[in-house]
Amino acid sequence: MPAKTHMTEEQVRKAELYAEQNLSRGLLAHTRGCVQVAREFALRFGVSMEKAAVASYLHDIAKTISHDKQAALAKEMGMSAKEIRSYPPAVLHGPLGALIARKELGIDDPDVLQAIAAHSSGCRNMCGVAKVVFVADYIEHTRTFAGSANLRARKYANLDEATVSVLQHKMQYLLTEKAVIDPRALECWNELVGRPR
Ligand SMILES: [Fe+2]
Ligand SMILES: [Fe+2]
Repeated sequence: MPAKTHMTEEQVRKAELYAEQNLSRGLLAHTRGCVQVAREFALRFGVSMEKAAVASYLHDIAKTISHDKQAALAKEMGMSAKEIRSYPPAVLHGPLGALIARKELGIDDPDVLQAIAAHSSGCRNMCGVAKVVFVADYIEHTRTFAGSANLRARKYANLDEATVSVLQHKMQYLLTEKAVIDPRALECWNELVGRPR
């Protein structure tokens, strides 16, 4: 069930300021692109635009930290060693970002926290905000990988269709690269494509 709480434009501005002060130029451009697409998708599919914007501004706040430091910080913030190890290295910045957003910005909205934590791999029971940020992170206009323009141009009928398309593209890439696939991505995939249509 989506959380009933809501966020204000003032909280959006606070998240934007945090992003401006903590992200590199390139990551900030990507983040602003993500916010723009997330707002568009949120409006189109009836999801809170403020929550989508806050989560988008904060989704990569842990990304520039080295993986060793990410693991140490996550441990310090209460994540178990087993959970830390369960994330492929490129994914850990999501759940760590959610912990930082909670601690440093006082964000306790479960939709926003899930959206930050799950933005790379997806997860089971993704809320609308998390789906919006998951898609926007991958298709925003600074993304230039093969197939990105096609993913951007598609007219998705609903959020699940967009989420499945992005997940399919991500997992195809990981398979081609013989890279580790986060089990959360598979859980997300099985849940979404296994639903009766
Ligand atoms: Fe990320
Ligand atoms: Fe990102």
